[in-house]
Amino acid sequence: MSDPLLRYRSEFPILERTNYLISNSLGAMPRGVYDAMKGYAETWATRGVRAWEEGWWMLGAEVGDELGALLNAPKGSVSTHQNVTTCQAVVASCLDFSGKRNKVVYTDMNFPSVMYFWEAQRPYGARVHMVKTDDGITVPTERLLDAIDEHTLVVPISHVIFRSAFIQDAKAIVDKAHKVGAYVILDTFQSLGTIPVDVRQLNVDFACGGVLKWLCGGPGVAYLYVRPDLGAKLEPKFTGWSAHQQPFNFEIGPTKYTDPPFRFMNGTPHIPSLEAARPGIKIIREVGVDKIREKSKRQTSKLIALADQHGWRVNTPRDPEKRGGTVSIDMPDSHDICRELLKREILIDWRPQAGVRFSPHFYTKDEELDAAIAAVEEILRERTVTTR
Ligand SMILES: Cc1ncc(COP(=O)(O)O)c(C=O)c1O
Repeated sequence: MSDPLLRYRSEFPILERTNYLISNSLGAMPRGVYDAMKGYAETWATRGVRAWEEGWWMLGAEVGDELGALLNAPKGSVSTHQNVTTCQAVVASCLDFSGKRNKVVYTDMNFPSVMYFWEAQRPYGARVHMVKTDDGITVPTERLLDAIDEHTLVVPISHVIFRSAFIQDAKAIVDKAHKVGAYVILDTFQSLGTIPVDVRQLNVDFACGGVLKWLCGGPGVAYLYVRPDLGAKLEPKFTGWSAHQQPFNFEIGPTKYTDPPFRFMNGTPHIPSLEAARPGIKIIREVGVDKIREKSKRQTSKLIALADQHGWRVNTPRDPEKRGGTVSIDMPDSHDICRELLKREILIDWRPQAGVRFSPHFYTKDEELDAAIAAVEEILRERTVTTR
C-alpha cells in the first residue's frame, strides 16, 4: 500500500541518516530552513537596521497568523513568544489573585515547567489545586471537573499529556470552567500538528504551544491565542514596548495598550527563530492535519500491537481516539534500551513513569517502526546472553 505522505521525506535531510521517531521532542528540520536562515543573514547583512520596518517588526504577528490558521483562530488573535512558560506568564500577568477567586486547577500530568511556573505564583495569592492521575496514563476527568469551582480563576492544562499522549477532554473542561466563571489555558504543544485543534469550536480562552515538536519549526517560537473578546480588554502586566500603541514615540509613563496580537507581546522579537519556524508550519499546513492524524492513528496502533506481541508495558491509551502521536513503551531496562537505540541512529527518548517514547510523524515509514522494535528485541536478547 503506497503512502502519499512519504513524498515529503526528501524535504527533511535527517531522514536520510536516522530513524527519526522523536517528533514529540524535536521535529525533523525541513530543508527550507537553510534558505530561511540564509535569507535572514542576507537581510541583516544588506539592509541592516532598515530590516525592522521592511519586515522584521511585523514578523511575530505574521507567524502568529500562520499558526492561527492551524488553530482555526481569527487573524490577529495569536501572538508569538519564546516558549510556553513565557505564554503562561503573560496570561498570569493579566489576572488578579488577590481576591477569593484565586484557585489554579490542573493535574499532575501537566508539563513540569508549567507547574513550576504556577507553583511560583503562590506568593502572589495563587492557590494551586493538583488533581492526581490514578494510572499514570490518563487524567481523571470527572475529578478534574469537580475541582473547578466558583473559586477557580484559571485552569492551565495540556491538551495532550506529554508522558502518555492521553488526549484530555478539552471541551468538557472549557464548558465546566465557563459555567463557574474560570478561564482555561490549553497547552497544545503536544497536539497542534498531530491532532486537529479548533480554538473556536472549543471556545477556549487561551491556547499556547511551541513549534519545535510536531510543527517542525525549531526552538525559540511559541504562540499564544487569546479569545478576541478577552484580547480586547485584558491588560498584561508582563508587557513592553511591542504592546504600546505608539512604540516609536518612546513616551514616558504607563503603557497605552495596543490591540492584539502585539498587546500580548513585550520586548524585541526573536527574528531568527521566527524565520526558522516558517518552513515547518508551511509543510504541516500543506500536508493537512487530518491526513497526519489518520496516519498517526494507524502507526501508533501498529506500535502498540508490536509492543503487545513482546509483552511490553504500554503507557499510552489503547483507544486511538484518546491517544495523540506518541506511544510510550516501558520494556525491561527501558532507560538503557533508550541509550542503545540512540547509538544505532534510532532517535527516541525516555521519560520517567513513561518509558521509551516512540513518535512517528507524517514522514515516517512503517518499516521504520518494525526496525525500531526489532532493534529493541535484539538489544534485549544480547543483554540476556551477556548477563547469563
Ligand atoms: C505539553 C508541553 N508543554 C510545554 C512544554 C515545554 O515548555 P516550554 O516551551 O516553556 O519549554 C513541553 C515540552 O517541551 C510540553 O510537552
